Amino acid sequence: MKLSIAFFLSSAVYLASASAIAVETGSIPAGASITLPRSSSIFSRFASSSKSHHPQKDNWGNALENDRRKVKIRASKSDTDDISDDFLWAIKKANNGGLVHLEKGKKYVIGKKLDLSFLQDVYVKLDGELKFTNDIDYWQANNFYYPFQKSITFWVWGGKDIKIYGSGVINGNGQAWWDGFSGAEILDPNNKFYRPILFLTDNATNVEVTGLHLKDSPCWTTFMVRTKNVVFDNVYIDAVSTNVSSLPKNTDGFDSLNVDGLTVTNTRVNVGDDCFSPKPNTTNIFVQNLWCNGTHGVSMGSIGQYPGVKDYISNAWIENVTLLNGENGARLKAWAGPNVGYGFIDNITYKDIHIENTDNPVVLDQCYFNINETTCAAYPSNVNITNINFLNIHGTSSGKEGKVVADLTCSPGAACSGIHLEDINITSPAGSPPQIVCDNIQGDIGVECIPKSEADD
Ligand SMILES: *[C@@H]1O[C@H](CO)[C@@H](O)[C@H](O)[C@H]1NC(C)=O
Ligand SMILES: *[C@@H]1O[C@H](CO)[C@@H](O)[C@H](O)[C@H]1NC(C)=O
Ligand SMILES: *[C@@H]1O[C@H](CO)[C@@H](O)[C@H](O)[C@H]1NC(C)=O
Ligand SMILES: *[C@@H]1O[C@H](CO)[C@@H](O)[C@H](O)[C@H]1NC(C)=O
Ligand SMILES: *[C@@H]1O[C@H](CO)[C@@H](O)[C@H](O)[C@H]1NC(C)=O
Ligand SMILES: *[C@@H]1O[C@H](CO)[C@@H](O)[C@H](O)[C@H]1NC(C)=O
Ligand SMILES: *[C@@H]1O[C@H](CO)[C@@H](O)[C@H](O)[C@H]1NC(C)=O
Ligand SMILES: *[C@@H]1O[C@H](CO)[C@@H](O)[C@H](O)[C@H]1NC(C)=O
Ligand SMILES: *[C@@H]1O[C@H](CO)[C@@H](O)[C@H](O)[C@H]1NC(C)=O
Repeated sequence: MKLSIAFFLSSAVYLASASAIAVETGSIPAGASITLPRSSSIFSRFASSSKSHHPQKDNWGNALENDRRKVKIRASKSDTDDISDDFLWAIKKANNGGLVHLEKGKKYVIGKKLDLSFLQDVYVKLDGELKFTNDIDYWQANNFYYPFQKSITFWVWGGKDIKIYGSGVINGNGQAWWDGFSGAEILDPNNKFYRPILFLTDNATNVEVTGLHLKDSPCWTTFMVRTKNVVFDNVYIDAVSTNVSSLPKNTDGFDSLNVDGLTVTNTRVNVGDDCFSPKPNTTNIFVQNLWCNGTHGVSMGSIGQYPGVKDYISNAWIENVTLLNGENGARLKAWAGPNVGYGFIDNITYKDIHIENTDNPVVLDQCYFNINETTCAAYPSNVNITNINFLNIHGTSSGKEGKVVADLTCSPGAACSGIHLEDINITSPAGSPPQIVCDNIQGDIGVECIPKSEADD
């Protein structure tokens, strides 16, 4: 009896692996492989069921790494050896419960645009380097285009339950792009030198990016569009130019549009623009243990730019952030002036924020962009700003704005209420006491403040 069970089990193991090989014969790219998980054999299900009755699942109720079939592809032999067809094949084979493994010490070059909008329960374990070619002519002719700020990207990730993790790198190969863009401005209506975003999700639900290094993006590093529940944990983002005459411009760490549930934890960002800046219609934002160096800050917005369009940002909790050597620290910005949009920024908390050597440590600007007092009074913002907390904000400014360490400027007559500051200790090398500017805010803000007209900046 015992013998026959053993025989039955071992032939089941044999059949499982044999059928996998049989199915793939002829269609498998050179150097690729598919390995079934041990748990797919009857033997190991039988064996493990004696230990636990329920197999372990991930946060979304799907199989864990060990219980997934693993798909591998060959690595690139050079920086121009494009494996994008192999990668697309692997993602399709791993879709619905599998895993693509890109191995440590290997480089995988992507030289063609990739539509990955069909995903459903897939893991990508990235321990090696995924690197994009810097063939500017190719990418400017072949990309995915988003009208919002005329954005383009190399690839689009969409679908449900997508996990990308490991100790590897996604390398945007940005230097050639920054050199080519040098002297241009992204918001210049005549700019035609579009640069790709390094990582973009669209129409996605449940996305997790863990452990990776997102390196040298040509433009924004990440952009989430129409996405629900996206988490970045333990990510390192940098964009550093080796050419003094071409800066890594607009390499924002995190941007979003129409996103519900955006979480960033334990992350470091060293880029030449915003560190974290949710854009229109982002709700339920959670940031904890974020470090930003040389950036334009952690910014809600700007929103309310486009005439007739309603934008909002609400329910954000931003805690334990370090901001060094930047233009801005904690910031909110909403458009005013003729021909702008409307909406609201509501329920935003910045707590335990350490800021050093930063031009504008705390900013609330409801007269964006560069609207003077007269124009802002004539055309006040239609973006209501309500229930904003700045709690325990400490450190130093750069002194660029004189003694002013916080500037809270609302539009005359606009809704701007429930603004609360507490435990603010930011000093300026330009002299003391440090000054907090507050204009057109309804109600008490919790600390002493002065109108801009009286500030020494
Ligand atoms: C969004 O994705 C779902 C599947 O997840 C699909 O049915 C739907 O067509 C997609 N919507 C758009 C606008 O692409
Ligand atoms: C640095 O960037 C400038 C501006 O784009 C460009 O003219 C120059 O060739 C670049 N230098 C190198 C060494 O690539
Ligand atoms: C705050 O974040 C820093 C990383 O920037 C981390 O080292 C530190 O442990 C965090 N503090 C707390 C109390 O979690
Ligand atoms: C921080 O950014 C400055 C430039 O803004 C740079 O000189 C410095 O090396 C960066 N520090 C770290 C730790 O990356
Ligand atoms: C934001 O959502 C509103 C609907 O609430 C929609 O009308 C508007 O177009 C969205 N804004 C953007 C920029 O997509
Ligand atoms: C405000 O946002 C926090 C998350 O930061 C959320 O827990 C809370 O429910 C929100 N409050 C309201 C009134 O929506
Ligand atoms: C802005 O606030 C005003 C006054 O409280 C209110 O009438 C209006 O509906 C609000 N607008 C939005 C978009 O929430
Ligand atoms: C404010 O800006 C408007 C529009 O740019 C300009 O016409 C006006 O002269 C400016 N007013 C002051 C006081 O600077
Ligand atoms: C404010 O910060 C300075 C410099 O870090 C420190 O010496 C001072 O004690 C702090 N003041 C308060 C009231 O915490």
